Amino acid sequence: MEIKKVAVIGGGTMGNGIAHVFAMNGIPVNLIETKQEFADRAMATIEKNLDRMVAKEKIVSEAKVATLESISVFLNIKEGVKGVDLVIEAVPENLKIKTSVWKAVDEAAADHTIFASNTSSISITKLAGLTNRADKFIGMHFFNPVPVMKLVEIVKGLDTSEETYQVVEETSKLLAKVPVPVNDMPGFVSNRVLMPMINEAVFAVYEGVATPEHVDDVMKLGMAHPMGPLRLADFIGLDVCLDILNVLYEGFKDPKYRPCPLLVKMVDAGKLGNKTGEGFFSYH
Ligand code: 3HC
Repeated sequence: MEIKKVAVIGGGTMGNGIAHVFAMNGIPVNLIETKQEFADRAMATIEKNLDRMVAKEKIVSEAKVATLESISVFLNIKEGVKGVDLVIEAVPENLKIKTSVWKAVDEAAADHTIFASNTSSISITKLAGLTNRADKFIGMHFFNPVPVMKLVEIVKGLDTSEETYQVVEETSKLLAKVPVPVNDMPGFVSNRVLMPMINEAVFAVYEGVATPEHVDDVMKLGMAHPMGPLRLADFIGLDVCLDILNVLYEGFKDPKYRPCPLLVKMVDAGKLGNKTGEGFFSYH
């Protein structure tokens, strides 16, 4: 089966990046948002990121125009998923929101359509159970910034079929990404490894071992990480990091995943990182 058209639900940071890479690689996209202003914001972000790629001579300006033209905006799930071969959901990490989205998609999509969630922490097996096609349900976990990061972590739910996996693996390669298969367990592989590192960096600050700048310098200069763990936590969103740590903690019932009290306090204070202008570092 060939994926000729996709629907991306949600035009936030991940959703607009996912729409960008599909459209840029010749697969038309129906981008589904809840309000015109959110859709406009998503399209403006895609245009800005395409301009950056033109300026860096990674694509020509005709490719920018063609990419933008192959993205159609919809404000309604029923209309937006009509006639697509793959639906990728990138709505907020909230089970209530995801439940209502997947129920609506399941009713409206064609029988052959594959369902993929970009969730970073919710069980793929649980989301698949909201639909009547657990064999065609899979995780496609992209990384921010989506146009730049090579990885797609492909998460197999308990009932995901081998055929579904193969189609999604091939499609990821068409996007010039590198697919890596993992099974459905809390945090998959990416966040099971990344979040304890970030949490430990927060503990180092909490216990007065070093300042945020110095913790990050150690990891950047000693381990060649492009960003230190605290700058990365700000980039991801401290609320998102806390949510994922809680999923690991609840999922494994293992105290090694307990979120650092400082992380909890910062989220309570609304210091969520880049998106609020302040986290471990200031972005004003
Ligand atoms: N769209 C297109 N291109 C972009 C872009 C975007 N949104 N953002 C950055 N770029 C390009 C730049 O044009 C630049 O291209 P060049 O190499 O040809 O010059 C390149 O990416 C690097 O960007 P910058 O020079 O502006 O800045 P940096 O060199 O500081 O790199 C970074 C920025 C790519 C974000 C780098 O710091 C990095 O790789 N950081 C780590 C990111 C990471 O770990 N992401 C994963 C987060 S975890 C996640 O998403 C999963 C979730 O479940 C939590």
